[in-house]
Amino acid sequence: MSTVIKGGTIVTADLTYTADVKIEGGRIVEIGPNLSANETLDASGCFVMPGGIDPHTHLEMPFMGTYSSDDFESGTRAALSGGTTMVVDFALPSPGQSLLEALTMWDNKSTRANCDYSFHMAITWWSEQVFNEMKAVVQDKGINTFKHFMAYKGALMVDDDEMYSSFRRCAELGALPLVHAENGDVVAQLQAKLMAEGNNGPEAHAYSRPPEVEGEATNRAIMIADMAGCPVYIVHTSCEQAHEAIRRARQKGIRAYGEPLIQHLTLDETEYFNKDWDHAARRVMSPPFRNKQHQDSLWAGLASGSLQVVATDHCAFTTDQKRFGVGDFTKIPNGTGGLEDRMPMLWTYGINTGRLTMNEFVAVTSTNIAKILNIYPKKGAILVGADADLVVWDPKRAKTITAKNQQSAIDYNVFEGKQVTGLPRFTLTRGVVAIEEDTIKTRQGHGEFIKRQPVTAVSKALSTWKEVTAPRKVERTGIPASGV
Ligand code: URP
Ligand code: ZN
Ligand code: ZN
Ligand code: ZN
Repeated sequence: MSTVIKGGTIVTADLTYTADVKIEGGRIVEIGPNLSANETLDASGCFVMPGGIDPHTHLEMPFMGTYSSDDFESGTRAALSGGTTMVVDFALPSPGQSLLEALTMWDNKSTRANCDYSFHMAITWWSEQVFNEMKAVVQDKGINTFKHFMAYKGALMVDDDEMYSSFRRCAELGALPLVHAENGDVVAQLQAKLMAEGNNGPEAHAYSRPPEVEGEATNRAIMIADMAGCPVYIVHTSCEQAHEAIRRARQKGIRAYGEPLIQHLTLDETEYFNKDWDHAARRVMSPPFRNKQHQDSLWAGLASGSLQVVATDHCAFTTDQKRFGVGDFTKIPNGTGGLEDRMPMLWTYGINTGRLTMNEFVAVTSTNIAKILNIYPKKGAILVGADADLVVWDPKRAKTITAKNQQSAIDYNVFEGKQVTGLPRFTLTRGVVAIEEDTIKTRQGHGEFIKRQPVTAVSKALSTWKEVTAPRKVERTGIPASGV
C-alpha cells in the first residue's frame, strides 16, 4: 500500500517548494514531481508540512484533587484534528514514588493514543533512589527530559537543592531539564494574603502570580543549570521578564530554550476580569494570561529566535471541576486546553497577520522541538526516511472555534468564538489518514511510544563559571594553629 500527496507546496523549517510526497510503510519514500501510488491525496492549493509536535500536554493527570479530563484517546484525537501528530506528556511520580513505577502507570494510560507520543519524567522529590533511577529512565526507557516544578508548594515543588542535584545528574546523563519557573514560596505567600483580604475570586489567581515571580525563577533555573553544566528548557514562558532571562543567557552562549503557549500569545489578562465566575475560572492556569506588552515580547521572541517552541500545556478541566474553587481561588484546578487549536490559532494570529513566516511556523510548531528532543529527522521533517507524520494545510479553510464541535472532552473552549483561517485538509500519522476535513478517521491505539536518545553533544552549556577543583587550591607554606 502506497500513498502520494499530490499537487501541494512543501513547507519545512527551511524550504518552500513544489513537489509530491510518496509514502510507504508509514515513511516518506520519495519526494519529487509526478509521483504515483495506490492512493492519491489531493493537496492542490495546500501546504504540505511536518505534523505538529506538542511537547507539553497533561492527559488524564492527577492534579489538585482531580484528574485532567482529556485522556490519551480524546487528547490525541483533538491533536490530530488540529494538525498535531505527536504529543509529549509528563509522567509524574507522587513524592516518594519510584520513577519507574510512575512510568508504568503512564504507559498503561497511553495505550489508547491515536498518534505517536513520548513522556517527560518529572522529578518531584529527591533521594539516592531517584538519582539511580534517572539513569534507567534515560538508558533503558528512552526518555531524555526531566521536569522540575519550582511552584505548587507542598505538592510537586522542588527546592534549589533538589534542582541542582537533579540538573547535575542530567548533565552526566545527557538529559535536558525542563522547568516550570515560578517562585512557589512567593506565590504561596501572595495567595494566603489575598485570601485573608477577601480576594477569593479567579482574578486573584492572576494577582498571586505576577510576572516578577516568573522572571526571578526563570533566571534562577538558568543560572543553576549553567552551574550544573546542562542546557535548560523553560516551559510555558509567558512574560517579558522570563523571556529577558532566556535572551540574556542565550547571548552568553548558554543553551536556554523558551516555550510560549498559544494561550499566552492570543489571550490576555482581561479574561480574569470577566463578570462571569465560570468564564474567568475556566481560564485559570499557571502562569496566568498577561497583558499586551508581554504578548508582544513573546511574538518578538518567536520571530527573532530567542524563543523556540509554541506548545499548549493542554490540561483540560470541566466547568464542574473548576467549581472546586468557588470561594477559594487556590482550589481552582490549574490548566487550560488548546491541543486542537494550537496550529489554526498560530496560523491565524501569526501567518495571516504577517508576524511569522511559514517556515518559522513549521520551526516553532514542529522542527525546533524535534531537534531539542533529539527525534529529528524521524519527526519534524519532510525527508526521505522520515516518519510520514504530515499535515496537508488548507490556508483557505475557515471556522469559528466552538466547544460544540471540538474533540476535547470538556464543555467549553477558551478560544470560543475566535475565527480561524487555515486548517488541515488531511492529517496523517505515520502515513495513515487520521483526519480528512471534518471526518475523523483516528484509530485508537495506533500511536507508538517514541524513544529518545540522550544528547551528549549539547550536555555542556558554555558557562564562564568553573567549579573550583583541586589544582586551583592555594598551596601555603605555613598554616597557623587554629585560634582559641
Ligand atoms: O496551569 C497549568 N499550567 N497546569 C498544568 C500543570 C503545569 O503547571 O504545567
Ligand atoms: Zn507548569
Ligand atoms: Zn463567558
Ligand atoms: Zn504543564
